[in-house]
Amino acid sequence: MQEVALSNELFLHTYLYCPFVSTILQIINFSVFPLALQVMMHHAITRIPCSNYRNGITTANLGEPDYSLALTQHRRYVEALEQCGLTVTTLDPDLLYPDSCFVEDTAVVIDEVAIITNPGAASRREEVKSMQPVLQQFRKLEFITAPGTLEGGDVMQVDRHFYIGLTNRTNEAGALQLGEILNKYGYTFTLVPMTSALHLKTVVNYIGNQHLLASMEMAKNPLFNKFKILEVADEDLYAANCLAINDQLIMPAGFDRVMNTLQKTGYKPIELEVSEFEKMDGGLTCLSLRFR
Ligand code: GLY
Repeated sequence: MQEVALSNELFLHTYLYCPFVSTILQIINFSVFPLALQVMMHHAITRIPCSNYRNGITTANLGEPDYSLALTQHRRYVEALEQCGLTVTTLDPDLLYPDSCFVEDTAVVIDEVAIITNPGAASRREEVKSMQPVLQQFRKLEFITAPGTLEGGDVMQVDRHFYIGLTNRTNEAGALQLGEILNKYGYTFTLVPMTSALHLKTVVNYIGNQHLLASMEMAKNPLFNKFKILEVADEDLYAANCLAINDQLIMPAGFDRVMNTLQKTGYKPIELEVSEFEKMDGGLTCLSLRFR
């Protein structure tokens, strides 16, 4: 495992200073070092949970979140992103929107542009306004507009292809608007009709090297046939939402079976306590926007 970490560090530095050599190294080591082919990210945006965070939307039935513990867990999350090599912009709490720490839902950021979403949850729709000036510092902006709705949690990137979940939060009009913008910049996309999950990435996440962590239901979905799937049992479903960044994989603490599966596959996950976000239907991916 030490070797894997060293090798990934080598890729990170070689990628930054000599992308061609890095590509050759990655091809040679494709099957040995699982995270080596992840797109390298440089920046993240997060927002500190607000004091009325407990008033956000939830279906979890896990009780009210402990605000002070949520703040601690959020701080550790930001530190973990920094350890993964990201420069993190952390925004102040926004009392107007209890769910506003789940910033991923407000935008989809690609190399060329930031696409401001139109969240399907009415109470979250205005969260996007305060994100616009922040993202404008990094990218020009495009917009998803009504009647289209879209939340970033429904958007999963695999290299230059995007999977867009159709959920209660993201409708077909919104997904197609995003698809059109992505096509314009040379990306492709697939729509993924969903039945029950909050977001696509609640139940399926790309973790590099053609591996998906997926619920039993998503594992059977023919749209994902070409991937090597690591199935997550229903009782561990929260851990399907892992976050792959650069040469690291962050997973929620307390899911030993998922940890074992990942370790057997060659990963060396960093565990983070995120219990206070699970209580509000939030996961590791929703807590940040990550981009190059
Ligand atoms: N509480 C996060 C969400 O429902 O979007």
